[in-house]
Amino acid sequence: MEKEGASNEQAREEGENSIVWNEKYRKFETRDREAYIEYQLIGGGKVMELVHTYVPPSKRGLGLAAHLCVAAFSHAEAQSLSVIPTCSYVSDTFLSRNPSWNSVVHKSKI
Ligand code: COA
Repeated sequence: MEKEGASNEQAREEGENSIVWNEKYRKFETRDREAYIEYQLIGGGKVMELVHTYVPPSKRGLGLAAHLCVAAFSHAEAQSLSVIPTCSYVSDTFLSRNPSWNSVVHKSKI
């Protein structure tokens, strides 16, 4: 019983924290929309500038911002977009901890 309760709890948390693409508002966000990474498309739509990441204080320090970044970088890679990491969380924390994603970072001038 206890095990089942724990896995239900886990399933609920995974559901709450699963990331969805909100194309209209140019965000990747949790289903409750409380946490998000926001972007703009520049360079004729081929470059995704990640402008802001937000996680509510009660959910910080759990890697949620990193999940948001992975969703954004995976989307960019799949769509052959390059990424400009304007948000300091992305440039200073996410990319230094996950350097393999530097392959998707935009290299030349816009
Ligand atoms: N810039 C860069 N790195 C930051 C940061 C910032 N403004 N704020 C926190 N971090 C780093 C911390 O060093 C932390 O490291 P630790 O785990 O060793 O303590 C790390 O982010 C936590 O990573 P993660 O758990 O993936 O992030 P999170 O889910 O706690 O969310 C923010 C991180 C920055 C999105 C969240 O703190 C937030 O919404 N802050 C307010 C808005 C903001 O400053 N956004 C970033 C600039 S656009």
